[in-house]
Amino acid sequence: MSEKINPEFLNQMQIYEALALGVLYSFNAHVDGHIAEFGTNTGRTAQWIAASMHEYEQRLQSKGLELNDIKSLHLFDSFQGMPEAQHEADKASPDVVNGTWGAGALKTMSADKLYSTVSKIIDAKKVLVFEGFYSTTLPMIPNESRYSMIHMDSTLYLSTFEVLDYLFGHGHVAEGALILFKGWNANRARNSVGERRAWLEVGEKYDIIPSDPAYFAWQGVKFFIHGYRGMPSS
Ligand SMILES: C[S@@+](CC[C@H](N)C(=O)[O-])C[C@H]1O[C@@H](n2cnc3c(N)ncnc32)[C@H](O)[C@@H]1O
Repeated sequence: MSEKINPEFLNQMQIYEALALGVLYSFNAHVDGHIAEFGTNTGRTAQWIAASMHEYEQRLQSKGLELNDIKSLHLFDSFQGMPEAQHEADKASPDVVNGTWGAGALKTMSADKLYSTVSKIIDAKKVLVFEGFYSTTLPMIPNESRYSMIHMDSTLYLSTFEVLDYLFGHGHVAEGALILFKGWNANRARNSVGERRAWLEVGEKYDIIPSDPAYFAWQGVKFFIHGYRGMPSS
C-alpha cells in the first residue's frame, strides 16, 4: 500500500466511533438516564460525547421532532491528576511504575475550563462537572439519577472499582445501559489489574448480566447491561 494511514488517528477514530454510537444507542433504544464520564483529563472524549449529543438533538430538530428524552452529561475527575496508587494491583501496574499514571499525572484541564468548553457544544444546563476524587463526588449523585451510558476512563483498578461499586450498589445503572472501558487492554490485558479486575469483581458482587464484550480501538471494550442485583425497574 503506498498511502500511509496514521495508526494513532485510526485508533482515535475508533474511540470516537464507540462513544458516538453509544450516544445514539442511548437515545434510539430509549435507555433511561444521563450520560457519565469518569476521567476527563484533556476533555477530549467529553467533547466527543457532547458533540454526539448535540448532533443527535440537531438532527431531531431539523426533522421538526421534539426531544422527549432529556439527557445531561455528568463529568467526573479529581482535576488534580491521578491519585497515588494504593492497592497492590495498581502499584504493580507497568504504567504506574513508569510514572505515566503516577500521583498527579494526567492533570490537563481545569474543571472551569472543561465546563466552559463543553457548554459551547451542548446547552450549559445539561453539563454537570463533579470536581474532586471519586470518594467525595460519587455521594453527590442524586439518588434518583440513572445512567444510560457510562464511559470509564480512570485507568486504575481502585478508581474503577470505586466508581462501579458505587453506581451498581446505588442502582444508578439503568437497564440496557452501555458501559465503555477505554483502558481495558492496558497492562498486557491482564485480568488481575486495572479495569478488567474491577469489572470481574463488581460483576460477581452484583451478579451483573452483561452482553458479550465488543472491542474497539486497541484498548477498549463495551458491554450492555441486561441485569444486576438491585437494578431499578423502569
Ligand atoms: C486517562 S485519563 C482520562 C482521559 C480523558 N478521557 C481524555 O479524553 O483526555 C484518567 C483520568 O482519571 C482521573 N482519575 C483517576 N482516578 C481518579 C479518582 N479516584 N478520582 C477522580 N479522578 C480520577 C485522573 O485525574 C485523569 O484525569
